Amino acid sequence: FNIYEFQQDLLDWYDKEKRDLPWRQDQDPYKVWVSEIMLQQTRVDTVIPYFHHFIEKFPTIKALAEAEEEEVLKAWEGLGYYSRVRNLQAAVREVHESYSGIVPDTPDTLGSLKGVGPYTKGAILSIAYNIPEPAVDGNVMRVVSRLFSIWDDIAKPKSRKIFEEIIYKIISKENPSDFNQSLMELGAIICTPASPACLICPVQEHCSAFEEGVERELPVKSKK
Ligand code: ADE
Repeated sequence: FNIYEFQQDLLDWYDKEKRDLPWRQDQDPYKVWVSEIMLQQTRVDTVIPYFHHFIEKFPTIKALAEAEEEEVLKAWEGLGYYSRVRNLQAAVREVHESYSGIVPDTPDTLGSLKGVGPYTKGAILSIAYNIPEPAVDGNVMRVVSRLFSIWDDIAKPKSRKIFEEIIYKIISKENPSDFNQSLMELGAIICTPASPACLICPVQEHCSAFEEGVERELPVKSKK
């Protein structure tokens, strides 16, 4: 496994094939934050119109911090999992009041905010701030489990660490933002759950599961 060839193949593909999504217009940490919270339990196609509307109503940390909760909940109506947006507003208020409205760029401070778990923290640090931190969600675990033939059960909480450690080793230090997004994109477009499109995969030649013919058996995911 050649890390640099892998990074180059993945990033070249991402440059050419990435979807034009509204949260990819810039690297504003606030917008990255909102998009990642929305995307955690909701599909991309559903999120797009909500993201546009939410950002139009609350374009900045200050705007969301000062908004009435009722108005914020209304902008979230239909997305479900309303604790997500209650936590988001509480955290944004803390950023507004305690950090001069600047989204923290250190893992500990960022991770101390309400609703900012390991995934969201890594996504904001890498995508917005270009800091080489892993952002491991289910899609990334699927991709990485296949690339390296990892047979650990991804439903077990302790498995996350295994994937994070691999990402630390393979993440592009030049472009952590695109690197993490390209893993997400690969999982969404090519390395899909039931029938991965290995024949057109940009990193096929780096993939252990493809070489062994076990891509459909990975990841291992027990029922909880
Ligand atoms: N799923 C989670 N985060 C995402 C992102 N930034 N782009 C596309 N899909 C995602």
